[in-house]
Amino acid sequence: MTDGNGTLPWWQTGIIYQIYPLSFQDSDGDGLGDLPGILRRIDYLAGLNVAAIWLSPVFPSPMRDFGYDVADYTSIHPRFGTLSDFDRLLAGLHGRGMKLILDLVPNHTSDQHPWFLESRSSRDNPRRNWYLWRDPAPGGGPPNNWLSFFGGPAWTFDETTGQYYLHQFTPEQPELNLRHPAVLEALLDAMRFWLDRGVDGFRVDVPWLLIKDAEFRDEPENPAWDGIAPHGRLLHVHTANQPELHAIIRAMRAVVDDYPGERVLIGETNVPEEELVKYYGAARDEFHLPFNFRLIYASWNAGEIQRLVETYEAILPQGAWPAWVLGNHDQPRIASRIGPDAARVAVMLLLTLRGTPTCYYGDELGMKNGVIPRNRIRDPQALNQPGISGVFNRDAARTPLPWDTSPNAGFAPEGTQPWLPLGQDWPMRNVACQSDDPCSMLAFFRTLTALRQRHPALNQGDYKGVETVADGVFAYTRTAGAERLLIVLDFAGCEYLLDLGALADGAEILLSTGMRRAGRVELRRLRLLANEGLVLKIS
Ligand code: GLC
Repeated sequence: MTDGNGTLPWWQTGIIYQIYPLSFQDSDGDGLGDLPGILRRIDYLAGLNVAAIWLSPVFPSPMRDFGYDVADYTSIHPRFGTLSDFDRLLAGLHGRGMKLILDLVPNHTSDQHPWFLESRSSRDNPRRNWYLWRDPAPGGGPPNNWLSFFGGPAWTFDETTGQYYLHQFTPEQPELNLRHPAVLEALLDAMRFWLDRGVDGFRVDVPWLLIKDAEFRDEPENPAWDGIAPHGRLLHVHTANQPELHAIIRAMRAVVDDYPGERVLIGETNVPEEELVKYYGAARDEFHLPFNFRLIYASWNAGEIQRLVETYEAILPQGAWPAWVLGNHDQPRIASRIGPDAARVAVMLLLTLRGTPTCYYGDELGMKNGVIPRNRIRDPQALNQPGISGVFNRDAARTPLPWDTSPNAGFAPEGTQPWLPLGQDWPMRNVACQSDDPCSMLAFFRTLTALRQRHPALNQGDYKGVETVADGVFAYTRTAGAERLLIVLDFAGCEYLLDLGALADGAEILLSTGMRRAGRVELRRLRLLANEGLVLKIS
């Protein structure tokens, strides 16, 4: 039981906000967001009541996968700024009581990383085994049938040395050999470099891929393949969730734990729940927060959402804390998936479930997927698989944050071409307009995050599902000490008169998604409007 008085670490009670740095604020007129730009918007960040900012990669990179192809783990890409800019941003955030989390990409580097340039230079280079090199198959061709997430085989032949190297993303992202102790040590050193500078933690990229089958066996066909995304054709039994990878994550965690303060290790654990729970570590010694992606993939109905929340609550190991997300830079935006009205309900869900929520930049405005003309597509996942329906063009979720109604929406100076087009509705949907409207999505978001911050029941309380009889409604209580809050969410776009009198006689509305309701209500006759969510205080 949570009494609400315990002092839990910030990463348990706070909200994480993901910034895609290329798209947040351009300060120097190259059409790309940068670190000084983020610093300039620090008041905005503070006003969102978030505890931490997670930055997608800002390291030197040829940008074949927009920073997820790292050419140097311990420096800043000149397009984003300098190390001094980084230090200034970190100090600025710390000065405002916010933490900073970096992206760590340990599975692969850029093919321009000095380690790979050495590795590919000859078969007897000391760094040859830092990557995964294999001879061609006996009859020629790739060593096995493994596939890239971005289409085609996961192997590229290197003429110079006559072998193939492994890459499950673009060919410019060769995969490191994490079974090699020196490789792991080099990555841990990179973590120490940033932790020494004062960084508060890392979000680890594709942790479930870190170790591959030692024998490089073929993967079996997937009998349930939908015939759409090419990577889904095989069952990834030899590339995903290999048991040995957990030792790697434990080593990363040990580094983080070596530092004072509450540093955090977060995992991009885009894996089924039964695997996901293993990433907390048998002794809670792996990720503090392995992301749960189920809210992204679920069909948006009350029954399914309640089931997945409660299934997860039930299988969570002792002491494990959930980490929910609704979207990120790889996924269609929530407001496009379910519509702008339902998106408010989704945000209320995310911010009132038990666990640490991570919010994707722009979702606080209800930003939709951008429309990207063919000639402006940048995402390698889409470019490598043209015409394959079902392959999401990730650029759509990465369009610049619209700040105001000035040219380029205040994202970049006038006369600059932003690296991706602005979302079509930016003249209406931008920070300035929404700041002036007391009922806007942004106003709702700020009120909700402040409420969450104030109420231990929301930021650390126990969760309990509530039976409502109504199919389209998901309701639950969050309790800490004497405080009990009730959350009631409509998923069906219908209006209801609910009888929740079994909980208590009366309650007070603390917040409605529409921002227009307040005051006392009788729980025996609780009216819930279409596409409405309510947070109520039971008394
Ligand atoms: C992760 C990142 C994604 C990237 C991939 C390869 O899934 O979120 O953007 O393309 O890893 O690094």
